[in-house]
Amino acid sequence: MNDSYGRNIHYLRISLTDRCNLRCVYCMPADMRFMPTAHLLQNDELVRLVRIAASVGFDRIRLTGGEPTIHPNLLEIVGGIAQISGIKEIAMTTNAVRLEKLAEPLARAGLKRVNISIDTLDAERFRKITRLGKIEQVWRGIVAAERAGLAPIKLNSVVVRGYNEDDIADLARLTLDHAWDMRFIEVMPLGSVADFQIASVVPVAEMRARIENVFGALEPLEWNGHDPARSYRLRGGRGTIGFISSVTAPFCEGCERMRLSSDGRLRLCLLRDDEVDLLTPLRAGASDEELRALIARGAQNKPWGHGLAQNEIAGSRVMSQIGG
Ligand code: 5AD
Ligand code: SF4
Repeated sequence: MNDSYGRNIHYLRISLTDRCNLRCVYCMPADMRFMPTAHLLQNDELVRLVRIAASVGFDRIRLTGGEPTIHPNLLEIVGGIAQISGIKEIAMTTNAVRLEKLAEPLARAGLKRVNISIDTLDAERFRKITRLGKIEQVWRGIVAAERAGLAPIKLNSVVVRGYNEDDIADLARLTLDHAWDMRFIEVMPLGSVADFQIASVVPVAEMRARIENVFGALEPLEWNGHDPARSYRLRGGRGTIGFISSVTAPFCEGCERMRLSSDGRLRLCLLRDDEVDLLTPLRAGASDEELRALIARGAQNKPWGHGLAQNEIAGSRVMSQIGG
């Protein structure tokens, strides 16, 4: 399915819940209030929407949150999506806190890969940036994911000025011994925490310099034209190092994705508030054909890109309500 700019939209990122067992400073306010459960898509509603999305050309699914692993029906949802014809890959973005127990059953249910958020290797700084996390749980989650074959494992670090910019080289070092894809992300501004986020951006150029100061020049790898990350390798490294420069060098021309929020809204661009309400028509008895038309119209209306350079900040949701 092409949008009005000729981009082939085929990747759907689904936020299963806006809730999370952490409270990362760059993601949500400390006193975050969550949506009432009645406003959230039920299992069967969600799987039906994915089936309809698959029929208009979506073939890649990523489950996000909030934190997808705290959803009570996660395994049933993964199993339900895995059975939909046309879906080639189901992946998940997670903080890994609950992955030690869940990695194996998730892999059995049909999950293929995980992206794990890890912003520092230091226990105290990890607690500070997540407001309540324990780094050991994340490590056990990574080990369990690897054992369950949820590979290639991608690790995401959001770099936040004053919190973890000194940890970049240590995180990059992981790729010497592990075949992991370590990706460093510029903080994106959204909703009520935008002022903090704007003040916290560490540009990709600086992240790269911090790594090259320690390890020498990074070796560039080929880019497929769609991956938001530009990837490199440390000399002799087993894994890769990627940079996601959403703020300083946007990559909207390669965008192939739309998002479905846990309250049943199709969000057309991460950093714009344009949304199509699917929940209301779905609960009012809309047919598959009607819902298909709404999804296709959403793709037609997908904005070209975000307006961060013009100081246009999307205000209606914070990151945990969209899923990154
Ligand atoms: N900017 C960039 N990435 C963010 N994430 C959460 N908030 C932000 C933000 N403001 C990332 C998390 C995780 C994924 C869910 O989104 O680190 O990798
Ligand atoms: Fe939770 Fe991920 Fe947001 Fe952290 S970034 S609060 S782990 S959803």
